[in-house]
Formats: sequence, C-alpha cells, structure tokens
Amino acid sequence: MKHFINLKDIPAYDLRKILIDAKKRKKSRGKLNTLDVDLDQPLKGKLFIQMYEKQSSRTRLSFLIAIKQLGASSITVKANELHLGRGGESLSDTAKTLSTYGDGFLIRTDSDKKIEEFSKNLTIPIINLLSPSSHPCQVLADIFTIEEIKKQPISKLNICWIGDCNNVLNSLIAASVKFKFNLNIGCPKNYRPPNFVHQWVLRNKRKINIFNDPKKAAKKADVVFSDKVISLNDKGNKKKKINDFKNFKITSSLMKVTREGSLFLHCLPRGKEVDEKVFNSKKSKVWQQASNRVHVQKSILLYCFNKLG
Ligand code: CP
Ligand code: NVA
Repeated sequence: MKHFINLKDIPAYDLRKILIDAKKRKKSRGKLNTLDVDLDQPLKGKLFIQMYEKQSSRTRLSFLIAIKQLGASSITVKANELHLGRGGESLSDTAKTLSTYGDGFLIRTDSDKKIEEFSKNLTIPIINLLSPSSHPCQVLADIFTIEEIKKQPISKLNICWIGDCNNVLNSLIAASVKFKFNLNIGCPKNYRPPNFVHQWVLRNKRKINIFNDPKKAAKKADVVFSDKVISLNDKGNKKKKINDFKNFKITSSLMKVTREGSLFLHCLPRGKEVDEKVFNSKKSKVWQQASNRVHVQKSILLYCFNKLG
C-alpha cells in the first residue's frame, strides 16, 4: 500500500502512471451514469473514511463519486464527532481504530503534522485532501485537464501562477519539478515562495521564475492559474493581504499577453482575484477542471493499492 500526501515525495514515474490510468479509465466509462461502477470494480468491497476539518464542496463530492465508481463505499466523519483529541483519545489510537474498520483514510486538515502522525500510525493508505502546505489531488487533476485540452505533454507548455504562495502553488511547484514544465509565478514581493522551496527546486535541477509584475509573469503563458488570496488556513491580517494583491488580478488585459489558445484555471472557490469576464470566457476551463477531479482521484486511489493499469 502507498500513501498520497505530497507530490514532491512521489516519484515522477508514478505520477505519470496515475495520469495515464485516469485517461484510460475516463475513456472506458463511455456513457455510463455518474454512479455506475467501472466494469472491473477494482476496489469492490472496500470502505474509505473521509474526514474534513475544513469546508469542502468539490473534493468531498468528487471523491465520493470516485470511490463509488471503483466499486467501493465511503463514509464521511466529522472531526468534532470523533473521540480524536477529545476525551483523552490519542491520535495514534484513533489511527489504529480507523485502520481496523476502513481500507483507506482521506483527510482535509489545518495541520501538516497531523497528516504525518496519522501516516505513521495507520496501517491503511492516507490521502491528503488539502493541508496548509499542499493540495496534491487538485494539482495532479489540473495537469490532467491541461494535457487533455492542449493535447500535448505539460513539459512543452508555459504555466503561470498569479497569486499567493499557498498550498496549491506549493503542489504546482512540486509538479513543475516532477513533470519538468516551465513555471512563472507573479506575486507581490513579500509573498514569494520561501527559500527552502527554491532550494528544493534547485536541488532537483529545476528553477521557478518569480515576477513582481503580473504581466511579465503571464507573458506567452499557455495556462494562467489563480486562487483565492485568502486560504482556509490563513490566520493573518486578511484586509491587508487582499490590499497587497490588488494589482495581481486576472483581467482581460492580462490574458492578452498570453499565447493564443491559452487557458484560465482556478481550483475554486474564488474570491475577487479574477474578473467575471475572464472567469466566464472561453479560455476559462474551470468546470472541466472540477469534473476531472473524479477521474484522477480514482487513479490516485488505485495507486495507493498498487492497482494502476
Ligand atoms: N478545489 C477544491 O478543493 O474545492 P473544495 O474546497 O470545494 O473541496
Ligand atoms: N488555497 C485554497 C484552496 C482551496 C481549494 C485554500 O487553501 O483555501
């Protein structure tokens, strides 16, 4: 069995295998209905326990559908209804209990340390559904969407991120190393990725390009990503942060400097970082992006059980 916690810790070969499997499975479903099970029912009889310590619409529903399509079942538990951290039950006892009932544990949390501790105490795979430092399922699915639309490997494309140095960007940086694509980041000076991230990228013989001017970052981009300025785990001065990002909005004028045929992607939910006009334009592929979460997450689940085709 394997965990799926951070893209940076998963071999590039395995990440590519997940995408290949997702493409095959998506195609082979043809016109099956949402809850029709894949013919081979690869995870028949398995139970997945999902736990959300933070809000979620897309991740929760897309994993529910992914699990059902693989022939398995899912139960969502509320963190505040478990004994975990309350009444004296330790995380390790909770992890061992979950391992006796479930076949996989999926968690969205405000603590990276908690994921690490669970992973050490579970005897079943754990999947990171978003943590302060990472959103690996989102970014892997986004790479799938980009390659599906552009019909070429992401290594041949210019990818641009305009926004905060948050969990999604961290996973995108990890992906840029694993899949070897060019990544331009447009953000205010005080919101650049920290030095240890640059060091990790350099150690892996890649580089990321940082710009203070969003138009320079977006120049000749094939894909422009954005995300909310304020993330679920943000604890600082939100008003100030939103103001600091006032010049880093995705507007039609910004999209004009990108390449012909460029795409706009956003993991959602959104704030005011993208203009309605761009969000609703032909370039925006946000709904295809959301729907592909199902297909890639199925293959992530299969990866955890060494069942990729
Ligand atoms: N993109 C994403 O993870 O959305 P949710 O927060 O709704 O799950
Ligand atoms: N960066 C955002 C992503 C939401 C899916 C957050 O962490 O809130």
